[in-house]
Amino acid sequence: MTERCLRLVTPEFVPQLRAIDEDCLGGFWSLAAYEKEVANPNSALVAVVQNDFLLGFGCFWQILTEAHITMVAVRSPWQGQGLGSAIVWGLLHQACQRDCLRATLEVRVSNQRAIALYRKFGFVELGQRKRYYHNPEEDGSIFWRSGLQDVGVVDDWRRLRPAGITTMF
Ligand SMILES: CC(C)(COP(=O)(O)OP(=O)(O)OC[C@H]1O[C@@H](n2cnc3c(N)ncnc32)[C@H](O)[C@@H]1OP(=O)(O)O)[C@@H](O)C(=O)NCCC(=O)NCCS
Repeated sequence: MTERCLRLVTPEFVPQLRAIDEDCLGGFWSLAAYEKEVANPNSALVAVVQNDFLLGFGCFWQILTEAHITMVAVRSPWQGQGLGSAIVWGLLHQACQRDCLRATLEVRVSNQRAIALYRKFGFVELGQRKRYYHNPEEDGSIFWRSGLQDVGVVDDWRRLRPAGITTMF
């Protein structure tokens, strides 16, 4: 198997971002929206790539000292192999590098797989938004991960570092 890399997303990957979005989220953002994201200095996109093939990616918007995670998605045949964990690790690592103090995200209350993933990285549920999602309608859980600049966070990154994936940042 060729090497898998965790890296920042560059413009040539935009069509693949959109393809993964279609596969995992039913087409949440358009191609133009992804082009804007990749060019936006307040956005960070990280991906796991193998031979120029994007296996999954995640994105956050930096708002002052907060990282608002907008997207985490792994192509369905590659789910359950630790790639989602690698992407969340990469997002939080980038948020730390950018001096963020905490990170937040929303997730469907039924998405137990994603919730387990976020809890693994120290996210805690601090609230819910009623009927936040549509098609199908569902409540959203609001998760926060604080302490991104605490001394102990370096140990967290070492402990949770993705195995078998080369980190390019
Ligand atoms: C959520 C998602 C990103 C997870 O990616 P993944 O590559 O499957 O995640 P991982 O293999 O790293 O697993 C992460 C954790 O999820 C949990 N998990 C994995 N498979 C699971 C399953 N079948 N059922 C319940 N929990 C599961 C485990 O806690 C696992 O951590 P562990 O292996 O250390 O115990 C992926 O399933 C996905 O793209 N789903 C569709 C899009 C989506 O829902 N995105 C989140 C929107 S907020």
